[in-house]
Amino acid sequence: MEAQLSALKQEVLEKIQAASTVKELQDVRVAYLGKKGPITDLLKGMGKLPAEERPKMGALVNEMRQEVTAVLDARMTELEAAAVEAQLANETIDVTLPGRPVQIGNHHPLTKVIEEIEDLFIGMGYEIAEGPEVEKDYYNFEALNLPKGHPARDMQDSFYISEELLLRTHTSPVQARTMEKKKGEPIRIICPGKVFRRDNDDATHSHQFMQIEGLVIGENIRMTDLKGTLDLLGKKMFGSNREIRLRPSFFPFTEPSVEMDISCFKCGGSGCSVCKRTGWIEILGAGMVHPNVLEMAGYDPEKVSGFAFGIGAERIAMLKYGVEDIRHFYTNDMRFIQQFERTEG
Ligand code: DAH
Repeated sequence: MEAQLSALKQEVLEKIQAASTVKELQDVRVAYLGKKGPITDLLKGMGKLPAEERPKMGALVNEMRQEVTAVLDARMTELEAAAVEAQLANETIDVTLPGRPVQIGNHHPLTKVIEEIEDLFIGMGYEIAEGPEVEKDYYNFEALNLPKGHPARDMQDSFYISEELLLRTHTSPVQARTMEKKKGEPIRIICPGKVFRRDNDDATHSHQFMQIEGLVIGENIRMTDLKGTLDLLGKKMFGSNREIRLRPSFFPFTEPSVEMDISCFKCGGSGCSVCKRTGWIEILGAGMVHPNVLEMAGYDPEKVSGFAFGIGAERIAMLKYGVEDIRHFYTNDMRFIQQFERTEG
């Protein structure tokens, strides 16, 4: 039995040596020192020994068990330490490595144009107003003095959704909505937003684009107020040397109606390819709010008057940044978009 014991001890020690992970070593502990292991079996088998040999054998088995346990515990401490170290090495962050460069975004050119215009008007006490892109025929046309069947509706080819609903063709319906809400109170608003027209896309046409509408209503608002305001706008967007001129035009919602040109920022007025040799560049439409429009929204045209204007944001951005194709604004080619500097704030 002593020989059996020493062979067993040899075997366990070898297994302990061979175990290379905590898990393997735990398996060795269970297999040899556990309740169902060979050492327990040995102790159980002692009953068959002659009585005088039992104490000696008992002592030997216990001694062997203690020795094996000590070796195993020591090895376990080693393997556990190694496991912790491996995990730490795995999770270490080298703080001396250079960081990944953060890509700083920039504003879309249309956003820049719109924000610049908003800033100018907010500085003069205007409020920003918005309206729905899916609009009622009433606000898009009728309330703007364009009754059903009016020929001027053809100036703006429309996407109808139902008999009464369409994608708004301009931001002017926000005028009618705001007047209705303000119920006779004075108004100073600027309304940026998307508009839609049934146009075939090409270098200068897009079925979707951005407009900025302006509206002022109050007592004694005159054409000269409109002219002064547009002069400021022209100078803010294209430089303080710009002059403006107003040409007679037609819009159903204004009377009189005008189109505004600025003196060419490229040639200063002498004539070049940007201004088509005229010295002037067309910028926007405007006019004095038509009495019918005031009346339909509940304002008394005998007591108040107003002016309005509508700007195409893409047109301003194309002129300002020299963009030759309107589709660049919507195709999201990063090489195009990244050319515009980030605006602060
Ligand atoms: N709504 C016009 C358009 O889309 C632009 C416009 C012209 C707006 C004159 C106005 C205005 O407010 O007074 O073509």
